[in-house]
Amino acid sequence: MEISSSEYIPIHIAATALHYGQEAFEGLKAYSGKDGKVRLFRWQENAKRMRNSANGVMMAEVSDEVFYNSVVKVVKMNARFIPPYGTGATLYVRPLLIGSGPEVGVKPANEYLFMVFVTPVGPYFKGGFKTVAIEVVRDFDRAAPLGTGSIKVGGNYAAGMRASERAHQGGFASVLFLDALEKKYIDEAGPANFFGIKNNTYITPQSESILPSITNMSLEQIARDLGLKVERRPVPFEELSSFEEAGACGTAAIISPIKKVTDHSTGETVDYGDEPGPVSTKLYQQLRGIQEGSIEDIHGWTTVIEGI
Ligand SMILES: Cc1ncc(COP(=O)(O)O)c(C=O)c1O
Repeated sequence: MEISSSEYIPIHIAATALHYGQEAFEGLKAYSGKDGKVRLFRWQENAKRMRNSANGVMMAEVSDEVFYNSVVKVVKMNARFIPPYGTGATLYVRPLLIGSGPEVGVKPANEYLFMVFVTPVGPYFKGGFKTVAIEVVRDFDRAAPLGTGSIKVGGNYAAGMRASERAHQGGFASVLFLDALEKKYIDEAGPANFFGIKNNTYITPQSESILPSITNMSLEQIARDLGLKVERRPVPFEELSSFEEAGACGTAAIISPIKKVTDHSTGETVDYGDEPGPVSTKLYQQLRGIQEGSIEDIHGWTTVIEGI
């Protein structure tokens, strides 16, 4: 393991990451608790997902041990940058795995580099928990049905950029992708999964081409704990108008409650209202409380980093 304060890495000009997209990353956060302790949230799931990503593009895998030790080391060494409890800000942790070995022909590298860096990030919602508008896109796909949508590789994000930049320019916070094959079902919301709430049920898409969100799987469990039913199944586009609440979920915001969904092609809009719904608000507060140590972590999701 090497510790470096440099923001640059010397890299071979023919590294496979640069030419053939042998690259995967993760995103997690270190949270300051009410009790002064610093916690990671379900880091084992990030480590597992990074191994799936590595497998998907034929890279060497990173063990739980190397993943965890590297994350803890970099968080501890940057402890002075961890934002205090109560600010809503956190220390974002970005593990990165790249094919560093040179190959001019298309094949997997024979050398890989695993790195982790951190940066403080502000609260996602500056003025508190707020709703966002999102835009349905039909003229771009981020991932093919049997492609790389379910792993966290850079190419997926490059493929989604034209759509998401257009949405931002149109005043939308994010895009909503539909299934690439039929454009019949909801896939996911940019860098976040989608969920809808109706009849005391948390409903979230089942799809081979979306990233399995750790936030989403946690919200499903919290929803069950709160007495809601949970359905993970294909969600037809037409069902959008039947939800009482809808949201996008991911590490960045936990939940971005959705105020409206507009179809870029038809202009058709589904409105959920300007205020976050009661179920989304409860789910958000519950997960945030667990991450910050103010609500009991009954599922053993958090890891306290000792010695900070
Ligand atoms: C495409 C995509 N979907 C969903 C998510 C949300 O996943 P998580 O809850 O693990 O942050 C992310 C963020 O990592 C993402 O990039």
